[in-house]
Amino acid sequence: MDAQTFLKKLDGISDIPTLPNIVIQVNKMLQDYDTSIKKLGTIIEKDQAMVTKILRLVNSTFYGFRSKITNIPHAVIVLGFNTIRNAVVSVSIIKTFSGEKGFEGFEITDFWKHSIAVAVTSRYLGEQNRLDSPDDCFVAGLLHDMGKLVLSQYFTESFIRIWRSVTEDKLSFYEAEKKLLPVNHAQIGGYLAKKWQFPVSLTDSVTYHHQIRKTVSNLNQLLIIHTANIIANNYKSDLEMRPDFSMIDPEARKVLAGQLETVSDWFPKVADEIESACEFFLKEE
Ligand SMILES: [Fe+2]
Ligand SMILES: [Fe+2]
Repeated sequence: MDAQTFLKKLDGISDIPTLPNIVIQVNKMLQDYDTSIKKLGTIIEKDQAMVTKILRLVNSTFYGFRSKITNIPHAVIVLGFNTIRNAVVSVSIIKTFSGEKGFEGFEITDFWKHSIAVAVTSRYLGEQNRLDSPDDCFVAGLLHDMGKLVLSQYFTESFIRIWRSVTEDKLSFYEAEKKLLPVNHAQIGGYLAKKWQFPVSLTDSVTYHHQIRKTVSNLNQLLIIHTANIIANNYKSDLEMRPDFSMIDPEARKVLAGQLETVSDWFPKVADEIESACEFFLKEE
């Protein structure tokens, strides 16, 4: 099967998760210049579960506000349109995909833990170097590997073969894919992001997170996601270990030199944030 046929097959899958209506609406509003804070508030308020979740998020240590925020309009004013929009997107995406089943060795919860780790690390990098909006970095980090979920649910046989190769041949997921499939999870995730009409910058960051392409619409965001993924993977098991950053693209190493030199100083703090973000996003209601 070549790449084209593969993606066509993907196109033909009718039960591929569709984006929750609220995300479509909130996404659309961003392209609409007349969007008001009030309008965003109104849309969110139609979904009581979302209201509860967003208020819990904005009042968590994640955003670090001291005074209690009790309603959505207030949250939008304090945190800004983009932050709230991205919070809605994050909460919805995790919810959309949380019913999926895992396999031996591949647990959906572990998948989300990794995604959240990359999201939080990306947000931190964006915050520190001011190269891109921290909230946009968070969402791109959260979605960077969603192609893996698509593979595991809709191309299960291929996924199992890749997984076997990962464990037996000691390859990375990406290397095993290269050997066994015409497309990789990054391309599949990017394909889905495009289909869902996410911003081009996000689609590009998902598509090229393993293979930097300098001509993308937002190179800084891509470099951040690429680097955060490697940092998160390196620190996964042992914080004491000296991380191996040889996989980081030279361009990313140049642009993010300041953060990379000091990573062992700041990562423990980020690791705490990752833990509380996991607690928040993955806790059953
Ligand atoms: Fe990946
Ligand atoms: Fe990843």
